[in-house]
Amino acid sequence: MLQPPPPSMQALLLTGHGGPEQLVYAVVPTPAPAPGEVLVRLYGAAVNNTDINLRVGWYSKSVTGSTATTPAAEPTSADAGWAGNALSFPRIQGADGAGTIAGVGPGVDPARLGERVLIDPILRDGDAARYFGSDTPGAFAQYTTVPTANAVRITTTWNDAEIASFPCSYLAALHLVTRARVSRGQRVLITGGSGGVGTAAVQWALARGASVVAVADPTKTSALRALGVTEVIGRDTDPAAHYGADAFDVVLDVVGGAMFSALLTVLRPGGQYATAGAIAGPVVALDLRTLYLKDLTLHGCTIPPAPLFGQLVAAIEDGTLQPLVAATYPLHALAAAQEAFLRKQHVGKMVLTIP
Ligand SMILES: NC(=O)c1ccc[n+]([C@@H]2O[C@H](COP(=O)([O-])OP(=O)(O)OC[C@H]3O[C@@H](n4cnc5c(N)ncnc54)[C@H](OP(=O)(O)O)[C@@H]3O)[C@@H](O)[C@H]2O)c1
Repeated sequence: MLQPPPPSMQALLLTGHGGPEQLVYAVVPTPAPAPGEVLVRLYGAAVNNTDINLRVGWYSKSVTGSTATTPAAEPTSADAGWAGNALSFPRIQGADGAGTIAGVGPGVDPARLGERVLIDPILRDGDAARYFGSDTPGAFAQYTTVPTANAVRITTTWNDAEIASFPCSYLAALHLVTRARVSRGQRVLITGGSGGVGTAAVQWALARGASVVAVADPTKTSALRALGVTEVIGRDTDPAAHYGADAFDVVLDVVGGAMFSALLTVLRPGGQYATAGAIAGPVVALDLRTLYLKDLTLHGCTIPPAPLFGQLVAAIEDGTLQPLVAATYPLHALAAAQEAFLRKQHVGKMVLTIP
């Protein structure tokens, strides 16, 4: 029997730019679904860099270092949103949300009440797109509202915290392999291979019949080998010195920074480079001769084509993908979860359970 939503809910608010002290657990009004929207009772969410990037102001073009070196106070906030906009506070973050439809707005079929759903975080409006939890209130709360099309029905035996590990990372990784046209028999190099997007990209690339080398901390080698990775090299290894030129068909990169130019060196002529992140630094050295003399293609990946979320849900349902949950925290412990996440000693995702 569905309970009517209460007038107030618990939520984790970001109250301003800065350190984890800006995260405040509070009671706020439960949102009401607008026309065309559903109210989702959330049970699972996940930790992502983008929440930390927004908090510390890393998306500001004034920042040129890695996320870890970004000062956690007094960032230039006028362009601290991922799309170059300023942010308002307080706000509810959280790109990944899983739960059950608990209310429907005008124009939405009441038959959707009680459906188990995973939230597609890309809120589309014609050619424009907003990101759930960055541009709109997200999943760090007991309830959220999204357009009915973004609450995608899912049938699986994984629990809500487990399926909440998928949307942001696995959609970004599917976007990477799709744009770079990863295909059977190819050799693919994946940086940040132990992380959320990296482990997702490993799974997608292997599912397409490619072989994968991952850049990751050597302590994570056995976990990545168990996923099917052929070889793991550390961040301190120069892939160009290790493999020589032209060794890979595709590079999928979420790290950037000092390794970037070597990532183009190891691509064969006509190779594909795709990026969805720059955790080691967004400003890189590009030798244009490498780009044009080898006929390389560079892809930037953030807003994926609409059909990819359906492909993601299908791959969860048919067992192509497995959730890699390294640790689980209750929502109120988000600051501790982010602190552990930033230590980068885990493989896969850290997820949140919502009371
Ligand atoms: N465009 C999009 O839609 C989208 C979506 C999701 C994420 N992203 C971005 O993609 C990047 C990776 O995200 P993720 O969720 O996969 O991150 P993650 O889970 O934190 O994994 C990133 C991995 O990169 C490695 N790494 C290499 N250099 C690093 C450095 N200087 N500092 C910290 N870690 C470093 C670490 O692994 P080892 O210690 O094993 O080397 C780390 O585990 C982030 O910049 C994120 O903002 C973009």
